[in-house]
Amino acid sequence: MSKSPWQLFCVVIVISLPLTQQLTLLEWIESKGGHAHLSVGPVNAAGLRGTLATRDIAEGETFVYIPKELIVEFGAPAHNKPPENAARLLARQRKDPAWHAAFLPYWRSLPAPGSSAIFCKEVFTEHHIALLQDAEMAGVVREEVGVAKQVFNGSSKWWQRWLGQAPPVSLQGILSEGTAHNISWEEFAHTTCYVGAYGFGCRGVWGSRQVCMVPLLDMINHASPETANAIVHQDEGNGSYGCTATQAIKAGEEVTQTYSAAALRSDYTLLHYGFALDLERPLLAGLDHIAGFEYPDDDLYLQHQSLMSHDEVARLNSILASFPTSEAADLQLLHGSSALHDGERQVLQFRIQRKRALRNMLGQIQRQLQQTGGGTGELEDRTSGEGHLEL
Ligand SMILES: *[C@@H]1O[C@H](CO)[C@@H](O)[C@H](O)[C@H]1NC(C)=O
Ligand SMILES: *[C@@H]1O[C@H](CO)[C@@H](O)[C@H](O)[C@H]1NC(C)=O
Ligand SMILES: *[C@@H]1O[C@H](CO)[C@@H](O)[C@H](O)[C@H]1NC(C)=O
Repeated sequence: MSKSPWQLFCVVIVISLPLTQQLTLLEWIESKGGHAHLSVGPVNAAGLRGTLATRDIAEGETFVYIPKELIVEFGAPAHNKPPENAARLLARQRKDPAWHAAFLPYWRSLPAPGSSAIFCKEVFTEHHIALLQDAEMAGVVREEVGVAKQVFNGSSKWWQRWLGQAPPVSLQGILSEGTAHNISWEEFAHTTCYVGAYGFGCRGVWGSRQVCMVPLLDMINHASPETANAIVHQDEGNGSYGCTATQAIKAGEEVTQTYSAAALRSDYTLLHYGFALDLERPLLAGLDHIAGFEYPDDDLYLQHQSLMSHDEVARLNSILASFPTSEAADLQLLHGSSALHDGERQVLQFRIQRKRALRNMLGQIQRQLQQTGGGTGELEDRTSGEGHLEL
């Protein structure tokens, strides 16, 4: 019995139906009822990856919709550290192969281990730490790597976990012995890196705060509020994610958003996301700001009359004088050598931004002091302490 043309047609359709595994990220999002007028590609001459509008978008238009079922939830409160969420993610991928397979287009979109697309504290070498020129930041990096190692090798004691001195989650605790040992430190550090850098604050059960991963939207690059052209938001009712233009965007233009107020400071972006922007007028590093990361801008600092003082000038000057290199020397290192790796470039860019911000702020305070005839010289309101780096 020969097949009718109709039967042959059906056979062809069935064979050519794409498996989830073969879908591109955008096809996968559309197959689940989402949509996005975005493409992923290089956004600058250096080949930085980002997102580009695929058509003209009007101000106020929501041009990306990611349904809730495509969002990766860690099922843990927001204060969980990235290594703990990385352990949850790796465990679920291994314990639930069907779920893992269903999300393959998303996993494939994440930076591969060893790729220069992502750089964070878990993959810092001693060389990167030395390049920071800051003992407190070096301490934060070592501490965070230590926490990741505790989660990775389950080395913290039960009483340390009970006292809150160690993370409560360990990879061995979530996975059976053999499987946990199958994950290399490199894979774990890399996973921790993107879980931390790509995570979004989102709503969990009963409205609690948690951390989520949101496919595609996690590839939108960060920009300062003056230049960012979009915002990412979660729908209160159904948990889906959207991206809305805050100004008109032309087809082919890069789409950017401001990650958070803290992300306006170079030390935070370096340690949390692995980059430092190249800005003419950067804000002070959180470490050098009297209130840490709390304030979204430095103008508030300038409105703080008690900070318009010679004491503050001396404090900022002593930070500037503590660096073994000048901004000019850092610039020369950054632009004079083609042998630098991306991670080293980011640390050098941070050093330049930090020094530039200190210099700018010193100039502003000194000008203000001259106008007001010298200031009081007193600093009464320093109770908030030095900007302490908390990640
Ligand atoms: C586990 O991590 C801790 C903290 O870094 C380290 O001191 C210890 O040697 C590690 N143990 C193993 C077995 O890797
Ligand atoms: C380790 O992982 C590989 C690939 O991910 C897998 O094929 C192998 O079965 C795993 N071994 C154990 C003991 O889980
Ligand atoms: C979820 O809410 C958004 C509006 O924020 C709406 O566009 C979308 O259709 C809703 N999705 C579902 C599944 O109800």
